Amino acid sequence: MKAIVKKIGQKGVFVKDTDFIENLGVTIRTLYTGVCGTDREIANDALPFIRAENGNELIIGHEAIGIVEDPGDSDQFKKGDLVVPMVRRPGKCQLCKIGHQDYCIDGDFVEAGIRGKNGFMREKFRDDEKFLLKVKDKEIQEIGVLTEPTKNVMKIMETFKFLSSRVPWYCGDSTFSCKNLYIYGTGSEALLISFVFSTLGFNIFLVNRHPVSDKIQSIINGIGASFLDSSSEDYENKLSRNRPDVIIDAVGSSEILRKSVEKINNNGIIILFGTSGQLMEKNEDITGYIVDKNISIAGSVDGSKENYREAIEFISSNKNRFPFKDLITGIGSPENIDKIAKKDKDEIKYIIKW
Ligand code: BGC
Ligand code: ZN
Ligand code: ZN
Repeated sequence: MKAIVKKIGQKGVFVKDTDFIENLGVTIRTLYTGVCGTDREIANDALPFIRAENGNELIIGHEAIGIVEDPGDSDQFKKGDLVVPMVRRPGKCQLCKIGHQDYCIDGDFVEAGIRGKNGFMREKFRDDEKFLLKVKDKEIQEIGVLTEPTKNVMKIMETFKFLSSRVPWYCGDSTFSCKNLYIYGTGSEALLISFVFSTLGFNIFLVNRHPVSDKIQSIINGIGASFLDSSSEDYENKLSRNRPDVIIDAVGSSEILRKSVEKINNNGIIILFGTSGQLMEKNEDITGYIVDKNISIAGSVDGSKENYREAIEFISSNKNRFPFKDLITGIGSPENIDKIAKKDKDEIKYIIKW
């Protein structure tokens, strides 16, 4: 059985013939796995917290959708069910015990395909039914692979709702139509954020340091949002004319955070999701802004089983409203491992068909 494997400490990933690793549980035949920034970092040996389950090799892949081949002794699943597996698995802390390993207190969790547990980039795997979600809508076999990144967005939404309850936050007419949401990044996660948040009625701006492809531009236009190129001359002007109320960073740069606290409106909300940069490396004095403006800043990582359920529901019920299909710009075979390490020009989401 084919699997995509990473040797810890060695650059690149490779295809390897493996056996089943798990003896018990639901047997799943993988249909699609998605590639995200985390996988790219793994392939480029740039993810500091990668850990094998056993020895020094890890089967990668954490975004997956598959089909139940053998339910084992599960009574929740039957042969032919479409399922999405969860990434993070609980450790022993108080929050892990109640299904909130996404808020794990002590870091004693494992993540499939990332740290301490083999992932889903393999032809088949077995899993505990507790960590599987059923996808009832058979029409979303392909875009259902976007469930895992969408569950991150559901948690961001939960975080937004929590932070926005600090003070009355709606516009005078009970809507969010006077509020500007800035999303930093224009990759698949940023676009999924824009889909989900557009349902709240914000004015949405997606920002990047360079122009975007026609395809990305048309996805952004299609949901009624705008794109801003932060390297362009009129960016500062546009920013001053439409100051942000909410900023969601899907990039991970301390520079974005520094600029955000300066430009955001009072009572603003900043949610940091991106991790590719190192926060606060320059130790700039931003605390003054944060305090004086009552800015709420929250980090957000991973999501609960409930967030996965919401993600499946969101994709299924909005499959004709949002262009999920357009986010998938490439479908390749497992052998095509070069595509994991390097993003193609104009790529949004690359997935592997098993
Ligand atoms: C996944 C999260 C995970 C995070 C850090 C992301 O790509 O979507 O579930 O917690 O990586 O490992
Ligand atoms: Zn990911
Ligand atoms: Zn824990």
